[in-house]
Amino acid sequence: MTAKLVLITGASSGIGEALAKRYARTGAHVLLLARDAKRLAAVADAVRESGGTATAFSIDLADAKAIEDTSATIAREIGIPDVLINNAGAGRWLPLLKTTAKEALAMIEVPYLAAFNLTRAFLPYMLARGSGTIACVTSPGSYVVWPNANAYIAARHALKGFTDALRSEVRGTGIIVTLAVLGPVATPYWEHNPGSREYLPRANPRLAPPLNAAEAAEAIFEGVESRKWTVVKPAIMRALFLLNAVAPELVTRHLRRSIRKRPN
Ligand SMILES: NC(=O)c1ccc[n+]([C@@H]2O[C@H](COP(=O)([O-])OP(=O)(O)OC[C@H]3O[C@@H](n4cnc5c(N)ncnc54)[C@H](OP(=O)(O)O)[C@@H]3O)[C@@H](O)[C@H]2O)c1
Repeated sequence: MTAKLVLITGASSGIGEALAKRYARTGAHVLLLARDAKRLAAVADAVRESGGTATAFSIDLADAKAIEDTSATIAREIGIPDVLINNAGAGRWLPLLKTTAKEALAMIEVPYLAAFNLTRAFLPYMLARGSGTIACVTSPGSYVVWPNANAYIAARHALKGFTDALRSEVRGTGIIVTLAVLGPVATPYWEHNPGSREYLPRANPRLAPPLNAAEAAEAIFEGVESRKWTVVKPAIMRALFLLNAVAPELVTRHLRRSIRKRPN
């Protein structure tokens, strides 16, 4: 399947930007959503240079009404996406007592509620058409836990719960639901969310080499196009998730020991 209309959230930077350029090479029309209009315009230009077409929408995805209005505009003026990729996300990794209520809420609003609201806007059309792919981009924090990223990890568990429950709900309707789980990716995420890197669990670089944005985008693209339930990159993380399902004490202890900055 080569997607024709692809909506990507968080397309102004990092993985979303790389995904937009990857889909552009298939000739797709890419809908780019994020807040930074200037960055979106630059990504739209790059998409056109790569052989695709693009429409940018500057939107705060924490705003449910803005999602409703923008989705209605897209449905009316452009069409219903063949692929919807919920990628936008942010959140500083901090100890619980250093995380404000506002920051914790923001991490739930984007990515989880943004994915919920966007999916809710387009799903009726996809169901009527009998086709469509909905993908969510997340981190190992959807499966395992480590110290000092409490609000981030809780939000990522919410995103996984949303994705898994959606897949179960739409079974047999022609809708495909993909969860993409990525290890550390070299993107501006780490500058956008200062302090987070210090709490990153250390991994063996030979077993789990760090990714760049293009590699992350390629993994998501391949997973979506081959209709996978889950994409896990680096794949070795599947072993960690399996072990965590049977021996969470073991994995939690190991990850606690492996973070760069000791818990307070
Ligand atoms: N980098 C990693 O190591 C890594 C690993 C696993 C998973 N992930 C996940 O992958 C996704 C993309 O991350 P990235 O590494 O590409 O980070 P990034 O470079 O910081 O990009 C984040 C994107 O999300 C958008 N965004 C954030 N809050 C938004 C809001 N309220 N409304 C609209 N757009 C918003 C940003 O756009 P604006 O600022 O322009 O709004 C930006 O385009 C995130 O969900 C991240 O958690 C990242």
